[in-house]
Amino acid sequence: MAEKSKILIIGGTGYLGKFMVEASIKAGHPTFALVRKSMVSDPVKGKLIDSFNNSGVTVLYGDLHDHESLVKAIKQVDVVISTVKD
Ligand SMILES: NC(=O)c1ccc[n+]([C@@H]2O[C@H](COP(=O)([O-])OP(=O)(O)OC[C@H]3O[C@@H](n4cnc5c(N)ncnc54)[C@H](OP(=O)(O)O)[C@@H]3O)[C@@H](O)[C@H]2O)c1
Repeated sequence: MAEKSKILIIGGTGYLGKFMVEASIKAGHPTFALVRKSMVSDPVKGKLIDSFNNSGVTVLYGDLHDHESLVKAIKQVDVVISTVKD
């Protein structure tokens, strides 16, 4: 069987993004989330990030506006989905 594509969700801690992360995991895709480090200490988002870790999501710390972290994250996956609100 063909290997499932690796999916990176940028904006995974957001309203729509968390459903994308959940759907990707449920569909059996190796799932990655680019998360802003500042959110780890946020009570609600911190719990969400913990739940990502517990579900097997690879949490990568970075920012859409931080070129190095963005390129590093994108290089690890096949598909990028962005649900960022800017
Ligand atoms: N919600 C709706 O019903 C709806 C309907 C139609 C279309 N849309 C569109 O769908 C998109 C997402 O909407 P939403 O309601 O899910 O927005 P949201 O809850 O505000 O989520 C936005 C996400 O983007 C992340 N983000 C923002 N700036 C970032 C950056 N510089 N680097 C990395 N991540 C960043 C946020 O991360 P943090 O957690 O770190 O803040 C959060 O995870 C928007 O473009 C919106 O216009 C939404």
